[in-house]
Amino acid sequence: MFVCLCKGLDDKSLEKMRQDGTDTLKKVIKKCGAGGDCGSCAFKINRLLQEGNERDSLTQELAESPVKKAK
Ligand code: FES
Repeated sequence: MFVCLCKGLDDKSLEKMRQDGTDTLKKVIKKCGAGGDCGSCAFKINRLLQEGNERDSLTQELAESPVKKAK
């Protein structure tokens, strides 16, 4: 699914960029221009980045938390 029509950025490419450290709207605009042309996709890009960052954060917390096993 395309996220930014002006720059032809899709959600999979955005997620790959996020995982590689382009994890804010400002960084995305600087890297490829998506979100910085007409700007109509900026909210969506920001939301997808935040969701991905929150998902990573939760995964990290779960990986670090002790697991209580039922007997
Ligand atoms: S649709 Fe992304 S800048 Fe226009």
